[in-house]
Amino acid sequence: MPHARIRLSSLADKIVSAEEAAAHIQDGMIVGMSGFTRAGEAKAVPMALAARAKEAHAAGQPLKITLITGASLGNDLDKQMAEAHLLSRRIPFQSDPALRKAINAGEVMFVDQHLSETVEHLRTNQLGPVDVAVIEAVGITAQGGIIPTTSVGNSATFAILAKKVIVEINLTQPMELEGLHDIYIPTRRPFREPIPVVAPESRVGLPFIPIPAEKIAAIVITQKLDSASNVLPPDHETAAIASHLMEFLKHEVKIGRLTNRLQPLQAGIGTIANAVMHGFIESPFSDLTMYSEVLQDSTFDLFDAGKLNFASGSSVTLSKAKHDQVMPRIADYKSRLILRPQEISNHPEIIRRLGLIGINTALEFDIFGNVNSTHVGGTGMMNGIGGSGDFARNAYLSVFVTKSIAKGGALSSVVPMVSHVDHTEHDVDILVTEQGLADLRELAPRERARVIIDNCVHPLYRDALDDYFARGCARGGHTPHIIEEALSWHVKARETGSMLPGQDLKIA
Ligand code: COA
Repeated sequence: MPHARIRLSSLADKIVSAEEAAAHIQDGMIVGMSGFTRAGEAKAVPMALAARAKEAHAAGQPLKITLITGASLGNDLDKQMAEAHLLSRRIPFQSDPALRKAINAGEVMFVDQHLSETVEHLRTNQLGPVDVAVIEAVGITAQGGIIPTTSVGNSATFAILAKKVIVEINLTQPMELEGLHDIYIPTRRPFREPIPVVAPESRVGLPFIPIPAEKIAAIVITQKLDSASNVLPPDHETAAIASHLMEFLKHEVKIGRLTNRLQPLQAGIGTIANAVMHGFIESPFSDLTMYSEVLQDSTFDLFDAGKLNFASGSSVTLSKAKHDQVMPRIADYKSRLILRPQEISNHPEIIRRLGLIGINTALEFDIFGNVNSTHVGGTGMMNGIGGSGDFARNAYLSVFVTKSIAKGGALSSVVPMVSHVDHTEHDVDILVTEQGLADLRELAPRERARVIIDNCVHPLYRDALDDYFARGCARGGHTPHIIEEALSWHVKARETGSMLPGQDLKIA
């Protein structure tokens, strides 16, 4: 047996270097790689591929691929691949500044996609076929099944559909991760059976990705850790956002709409959502569950505080300190955790069935409740919609949080009209900033504008929004806008770097 983590001895001769494995990937191919929010990504093969692409680019014979992952990658892989000019097309999410630059320069065609949908497109040949799948694993079963690491993402479907599979066995990922995963692949449409997940803790699939062992073309042994998450700790404003949300939820319990257990929670990526989840630690709520996508530090803090009973997600993305604390004890958490394919963690059917409270982050929202989570100034891609759309449309309560101002006050996160729409007013129930909370449920646009302006806007911008709304109402309409002025705040920010109110805002 060449390696204790490869239980099928016939695969012994498949162990090769990263460069040899990467040689299976050729110009023009569609490649599916594991990795979801900086967790569980294949590491050595993409690095070898980026090095080869860099040389090929210098020699004037570009090596280009379409890269599909679960979500963002760690270890600067998206940066390395973008800078090597390896990526012609990237699907469905990223969060790397260098790749962002290449996307916004038009060099990389980025398909910003609901995270639950990518594999449906692959299965129905709207995308694909996948030429090569590169999947990080803790090991391979005696039947050739792949045991994923800290994320499942789209790995299962990539491996099942790909012509060839490369497995990276990462020795730094604890073997105790085995048993954490629940691989369930929905049946074909239009005769699909209901997905049998009826609670966050429902186990409905296999603990490994089932593929014929003959498809494994190469195995690479690696020892590189996942990158630590880069979320910042809670601050004054994010604590205020959490506090407004807790007060609102307490009120919902008081009037009998929710119980003290609430409903399963989903929390988006990033600093703000992680900080808001910390708010549950000091709350009166208990026996909580999560049915989410990425499990961040706050999930484990909630476990340790005795607040959380169970968490289902598609990846575990931790800070360095939390990683060092959690990973050696992962066996202790295992009975309370499941990692699923992202089409299951984000599946509209299950989100609707379980009645989630979805908490996601906006870059900006407008006075009528439309949310922009992706485009800075209406044009520049930040990260992508990720799973926020999957959850927002289908949750019992769709909450969006953001600080009321950005860039030291130069930008208002509440604007007359969003410069790009990811989540329409129809998918947004609750908006929260550090200023307060707006409950938009069952309100008409004019009523929504009033509660948003009164509760969520920073004092620097309140009068200007009040004025805009009053002039809009005087002009009329179901959703009153001064249409020629609606994006003037963004125009001003583009021209001067600031939206701060001045005479020039009043065009009408
Ligand atoms: N206009 C322009 N930039 C803005 C902005 C606005 N209205 N509001 C915030 N920003 C900038 C911040 O200044 C910061 O910039 P920096 O990186 O240069 O410092 C950046 O956006 C991130 O903002 P931050 O306040 O740190 O929030 P975050 O880390 O919580 O991330 C999103 C916020 C919206 C970028 C992030 O949540 C995201 O990508 N969401 C979309 C995907 C998603 O929701 N997935 C969830 C399903 S799991």
